[in-house]
Amino acid sequence: MSYEITKTIEGEEVDFKNPSPKFYEAVGGEKGMRELMHNFYEIIYKSDISNFFPQDKEEFDKIALKNTNFFVQLCGGPKVYEEETGGMDLDTYMIRIHDDFSIAEKARIEWLGCMRETLESYDMDEELKADFWDYCDKFSKLTVNSFPQKRDFNPYH
Ligand code: HEM
Repeated sequence: MSYEITKTIEGEEVDFKNPSPKFYEAVGGEKGMRELMHNFYEIIYKSDISNFFPQDKEEFDKIALKNTNFFVQLCGGPKVYEEETGGMDLDTYMIRIHDDFSIAEKARIEWLGCMRETLESYDMDEELKADFWDYCDKFSKLTVNSFPQKRDFNPYH
């Protein structure tokens, strides 16, 4: 599988679809999904974007748990994240959560790299992995909120 990363373009509409419930089934339901997210966060903790997250392991684990609950619900499991959003639409809420952080394309690519490393350790139908990956590639674009200007951009010429 190629784990393609498509480029984020500022202001562009992003067309994404939630992962197939077949992925959730294949990963082993709620228990399997929790394991997958645990593996993912172990990688995040050692990654170049670990500084975005709490350095204290207990605080870090709290975020990891919220994120895990989100993915369990998103992928078709029980609605264990529902009450976090205060009645707001799940996708809108997710974008808002990330707006508290300055996330550039580089950080998104690192985040996706952690997810790729996680998925690579799974022996699973490639089509289902691709389906999950597609959601991550697309939705992560909506978490990007910082678009640094290119170094060679000179507004005075
Ligand atoms: C498919 C893409 C993504 C999804 C679905 C996602 C989902 C989530 C969820 C569910 C949470 C926990 C929210 C809560 O507190 O209830 C979270 C927190 C967070 N995510 Fe993401 N995320 C994505 C991409 C990214 C990317 C690309 C970054 C880049 C750095 C990122 C950085 C963070 C940070 C810094 C936090 C909060 C940590 C804190 O509150 O201290 N996320 N994310």
